[in-house]
Amino acid sequence: MQNFEQIKQNFFNQLSTANSLEKLEELRVNFLGKKGVMNDLMLDLKNLTVEEKKHFGANINQLKTNITNELQTKKEQLELIDLNAKLQTEKLDLTAPARQENQGSIHPISQTIDEIKNIFGKLGFEIVDGPEIEDDFHNFSALNIPEHHPARQMQDTFYLPENDGKNMLLRTHTSSVQIRKMLGQKPPLKIISLGKVYRSDSDQTHTPMFHQIEALVIDKNINMGNLKWTIEKFLQEFFEVQNLETRFRPSFFPFTEPSCELDIGFSKKDGRIKIGSNENFLEILGCGMVHPQVLINVGIDPKEYQGFAFGIGIERLAMLKYGINDLRMFFEGDIRFLKHYGFKNND
Ligand code: DAH
Repeated sequence: MQNFEQIKQNFFNQLSTANSLEKLEELRVNFLGKKGVMNDLMLDLKNLTVEEKKHFGANINQLKTNITNELQTKKEQLELIDLNAKLQTEKLDLTAPARQENQGSIHPISQTIDEIKNIFGKLGFEIVDGPEIEDDFHNFSALNIPEHHPARQMQDTFYLPENDGKNMLLRTHTSSVQIRKMLGQKPPLKIISLGKVYRSDSDQTHTPMFHQIEALVIDKNINMGNLKWTIEKFLQEFFEVQNLETRFRPSFFPFTEPSCELDIGFSKKDGRIKIGSNENFLEILGCGMVHPQVLINVGIDPKEYQGFAFGIGIERLAMLKYGINDLRMFFEGDIRFLKHYGFKNND
């Protein structure tokens, strides 16, 4: 029978010099492998007496456990050293510019949203957010669209399961944010809200999800002149043209009185759209003076305060500015569309 202490000593000597995972594996095979030192010891057992077997058997098992644990600890240490070495040598410079062909682009809708925020920011508007999952009150009732009112049919709503006794839905317009703002803060108010809205509608000019801007101004002595100036100022800045052709048409919205729709004039030459002509007109927004009933619904005295509001379709603006023909292209995720119409990040 070999001397335990000697074997142990031998193992630890070799362990201390095993400085790679390969060496460590060799050591494991030498000691714990089928033809290894520990198995040889087991084979030696058969020449011993029962009493001796008991004694040596226990010692061998103890030593085996010891060796296994030591090998595992050393393995973890070596793996850590390896990993650190890798981290040192394989450093990535995350600030390095991406290769041209791998560079992503900014979606035209995101670009348009940024531009809109910039313009209204300069005009002193506060930018506010509202939830896309709304309740019936904020999306409809408070905006003077009571239940069973035919105006509800103007918008094909995606309804959601009831929550806390409230009828829930995906907001059909960003006008709901007006209500949230007016309930949360006293006038004067001057806000825009931009985001996704949802309607159960899909064809060449409608997608079930699209984007809107909602603008709301509430103060004393606000009139249609303020509304018209603000919209025209915005459009001039956005399209970078002074000579806009616009058409304000009387319309109906339950939450404004009077209400208008605005068409913007453009011409098309060789597939290129030019704003500022009266050849073609495209409707881009709805607007009006906030209905006194809406003000009453949110606790604002309509004798003291008035306001105007408007809602614009962001896709329409982007299509006109960037000459995109089909609304659906925005959301198909086609890489060719993004390569062509996407914007470079200049940050
Ligand atoms: N919420 C309307 C829609 O989605 C758009 C709109 C019209 C908003 C008139 C307004 C407004 O604020 O005054 O069709």
